[in-house]
Amino acid sequence: MNRLFATLLFFIFPVSLVFAEYQRANDGMVSSRSDIASEVGKEILEQGGNAIDAAVATGFALAVTYPSAGNLGGGGFMILSLAGGEVISLDFREKAPGAAHRDMYLDADGNVDRNLSRSSRQSSGVPGSVAGLLAALEKYGSMSREQILAPAIRLAAEGFILNSDLAGQFRGQFNNFRNHPASLSKFSKDGVPYSAGERWRQPDLAQTLQNISEQGRDGFYKGSTAELLVKDMMTNKGLITLADLDNYEPVWREPIHGTYRGYDIWSMPAPSSGGVLLVQMLNMLEPYDIGAQGWGSKDTVHQMIEAQRRAYADRAEHLGDPDFVDVPSQILISKDYARQRFANFDPQQSGDSTTITAGSWVNESPDTTHYSVMDGEGNAVSVTTTLNSSYGNKIVVAGAGFLLNNEMDDFSSKPDSPNAYGLIGREANEIQAGKRMLSSMTPTIVTRNNSPVLLTGSPGGSTIINTVLHVVMNVIDHGMSLENAVASPRFHHQWQPDVVRYEIGAFSDDVARELEAMGHAGLSGSRFPIGDANSVMRGENFIEGVSDPRNVGGVSGY
Ligand code: DON
Repeated sequence: MNRLFATLLFFIFPVSLVFAEYQRANDGMVSSRSDIASEVGKEILEQGGNAIDAAVATGFALAVTYPSAGNLGGGGFMILSLAGGEVISLDFREKAPGAAHRDMYLDADGNVDRNLSRSSRQSSGVPGSVAGLLAALEKYGSMSREQILAPAIRLAAEGFILNSDLAGQFRGQFNNFRNHPASLSKFSKDGVPYSAGERWRQPDLAQTLQNISEQGRDGFYKGSTAELLVKDMMTNKGLITLADLDNYEPVWREPIHGTYRGYDIWSMPAPSSGGVLLVQMLNMLEPYDIGAQGWGSKDTVHQMIEAQRRAYADRAEHLGDPDFVDVPSQILISKDYARQRFANFDPQQSGDSTTITAGSWVNESPDTTHYSVMDGEGNAVSVTTTLNSSYGNKIVVAGAGFLLNNEMDDFSSKPDSPNAYGLIGREANEIQAGKRMLSSMTPTIVTRNNSPVLLTGSPGGSTIINTVLHVVMNVIDHGMSLENAVASPRFHHQWQPDVVRYEIGAFSDDVARELEAMGHAGLSGSRFPIGDANSVMRGENFIEGVSDPRNVGGVSGY
């Protein structure tokens, strides 16, 4: 089925009737939001690279072919499951610049200036992606940096043909890009929007990638690229300095590890809240026979919402950068704690989120992106990366061709003041120089007997963690195929605001009425999709990949 038709179908029949892009293969698989980037990863696997080589090549390619979220100027997280059973995580989240401070976004009246925290140069954290991808390649890859970067450089220099998805995004962002000459020049033809079918070249980005290929991290964090970025900052009240860039280091961290019905769940530790909340919710749900209760049944949905409510409440209080605050992760992910936390669960009645200023929903935009890679040797890589908002703060660094993130908005700029995703936070996530802002990104690997079974993750701000929860439970509890596990409609609750957001079809109208009668609010359904989980699963004798049918994407296996 061609993509345009699939996209049209999606709007006519949200979710359920759309075919995910799906492939089955023997030796390796890449699933990402960009078919071109997935193909790059697959070719690296075919050339003898391992999953880490392919993931890094895919990551650099996404910076070229999926610019709203693929990036050099942002950050992300990676979970790696290595042949032999070791699982590790890599944190390449952005950091607050040295000149950042707690009240930097408060105006004279003490209110958060969201324009400053989302749309200015000051919204940018020190980028982590280049250092992170290169660290993964150096430690676990088998191919040279030059080999891995070559496809991205070629795609940027020679260009590629824009599909309607990307051309439509550029058009949609046109007014934002118009405010910044380098952005306008990158994303339009001298001020005229591109159309689908036209070739898009990014010469400045090609040069930056070339610098990285030749000099490694110094090609980005030092020298001409760093100088272009800092010049841009200095002339526009930005904070990032050459020292901030030079000091940036990704961090290898112990992943969050939980168990669920005989499977091992590996996901991202703080400064992401994703792994902790995912395991916490699974722990709260494990005592129930979810499979027997059934997918979309009143009991299943109610239990999941109540688990979500409790886990997200803990997020606001306890989660932050572990290099700056004590994060009680091991307590939060223990089975004992889950039992206590769920002791006040009422099977007949919705819980009661305390009424602190409720945030409002922001419709999800195509920002963050997740990709999953598996090779034939038993290695698997699950990566989520982001600029935060779609196209970050929309500002391209003049001469360097890459977009800046606006990740600083993920800090709690003021206690209980909702960020772009309606999430509130407190001291644990307040701004401090050099600190990493709390994230919801949840790249996850499920293993069994030390072998990767399922790789998943998603964009979607606060909804990310619940999207992963759905995919994992759909596979483990409901025995769904990967295609159905990813395509099935989802719902989301995040404690505050105290409403259930759901995709049409996530449960029946009857169940919605029952939930409403139990006290759940906001049950009017949403035409906005939740998540984009590009996932890979290992079957008996094959590997299967799915790109989430909520968006175009690409799966490449061989
Ligand atoms: O790290 C986070 O949690 C957010 N910056 C992610 C943003 C996101 O997923 C937007 N996607 N739709």
